[in-house]
Amino acid sequence: MKIMLHLLLLSCLFSSSPLVSGVGNFTRDDFPSGFIFGSGTSAYQVEGAALEDGRTPSIWDTYAYEGMYGGGNGDVACDQYHKYKEDVRLMSETNLEAYRFSISWSRLIPNGRGPVNEKGLQYYNNLIDELISHGIEPHVTLSHSDLPQALEDEYAGWLNRKIVEDFTAYADVCFKAFGDRVLHWTTLNEPNVFIIGGYDEGFLPPRHCSIPFICRPGNSSTEPYIAGHNMLLAHASAVSLYRTKYKPTQHGTIGFNTYTFGLSPFSNSEEDLAAVQRLLTFYVGWLIDPLIFGDYPDIMKNIVGTRLPAFTEDEANLVKGSADFIGINHYTTIIVKNKDNNSKSPFMSFSNDIGVTVFFPDSAPKGQFPVMPEGLYKILEHFKQFYGNPPIYIHENGQQMPRNGTLNDTPRVEYFEAFIGTVLDSIRNGSNIIGYFAWSLLDGLELLSGYKGGFGLYYVDLDDKERSRYPKYSQQWYAKFLQKSSSKDRAVI
Ligand code: NOJ
Repeated sequence: MKIMLHLLLLSCLFSSSPLVSGVGNFTRDDFPSGFIFGSGTSAYQVEGAALEDGRTPSIWDTYAYEGMYGGGNGDVACDQYHKYKEDVRLMSETNLEAYRFSISWSRLIPNGRGPVNEKGLQYYNNLIDELISHGIEPHVTLSHSDLPQALEDEYAGWLNRKIVEDFTAYADVCFKAFGDRVLHWTTLNEPNVFIIGGYDEGFLPPRHCSIPFICRPGNSSTEPYIAGHNMLLAHASAVSLYRTKYKPTQHGTIGFNTYTFGLSPFSNSEEDLAAVQRLLTFYVGWLIDPLIFGDYPDIMKNIVGTRLPAFTEDEANLVKGSADFIGINHYTTIIVKNKDNNSKSPFMSFSNDIGVTVFFPDSAPKGQFPVMPEGLYKILEHFKQFYGNPPIYIHENGQQMPRNGTLNDTPRVEYFEAFIGTVLDSIRNGSNIIGYFAWSLLDGLELLSGYKGGFGLYYVDLDDKERSRYPKYSQQWYAKFLQKSSSKDRAVI
């Protein structure tokens, strides 16, 4: 009944809203030929079937069972595992040109390494085939932070160099099985966020940190840097494998992903301006500089000293140039203030090394991001000028709203209009942006808010065993925006 009322509301909304018939001052056709628009999800957030067909838990499952999502977990989630055909139809109805999803490592290789699960292979083969038969490009992330729990238990996962070999072997299985149809690979999803959350502050899986009682015992002053180093090596090793063994026949591309915030100084004082620079370096430069220049940024080397692992010459050569593109996840802008020594924590940590205090501008309704697309513009400008203008996908961008069943998500539509318009401005200003993915297709299990908040173009009714999907206003808006014009056919990449 609740849904029926919402649908009614929605149909009134569509028939009267000016936003649906026009999508701002730009159209799909204003974007360069080859530019791709899509939407995304990740395995644990939507797949469900967590305990079916041979899948074993990842560190996200463990985190959920520890109650970190307020009781929510991904056991069923949106049940995409069983409903992928319906979801691909919904993508098609939204006129998506691409779908970004991730493969669950522990579904494909339940022990993290060793035997491959045929049922896992079959599921991803089916999903990929279904996408292709609807003309939707699969863009696949190998690890969306859902490391198999088996590897965490066996040797502490990303903290152990053994992970490089196991990740490369997992990537090999994926390239071999799916690479004839998947041409766009991303190794890791926003490792910067997952490392800071997972090994510095301890609020994300695997919940390591130095502060007693709030997390598992860890070392926030060394583990983030070790995990980061191993992730870079694992990424580069998988890319090297792809380029030598698969690319000559499969002709795909493979890249890396990072989270970015827009950064705004608290004041124009020298200290706050330097704090912005430091945060940008620790947050983005830390893992992106090595991919472009083959080494960590000098600012980090100076501050972190011997706690920052050093690249051997061979490692530097492997890592440098190992991304065909960079994927950016971007949501909003934060205000950055310098933190003096007196206000630092007594525990040495990655955060203390940065030495900043950050906060959101007080300009958004509760539970939503402040809409500040100029922050994205500046980040894209930074990638253009500092990193030599590499190809960029906006891999994630979207507005979180309370997940209360309402389908009228006008603020999300306004958010998309503002950010997609800014992406176009950046392209016109010379940035090499090659695609945009709205986060997310469905209201899935969210990292910090569980099922309380959602980003979906579709609402998923969790009270309904069928997990029925209902299009929100933003879905209608995006579908309209992406509708192919009859006069101008989009070129294929
Ligand atoms: C980034 C993460 O990749 C994704 O899993 C998450 O749902 C969104 N941010 C929103 O928080």
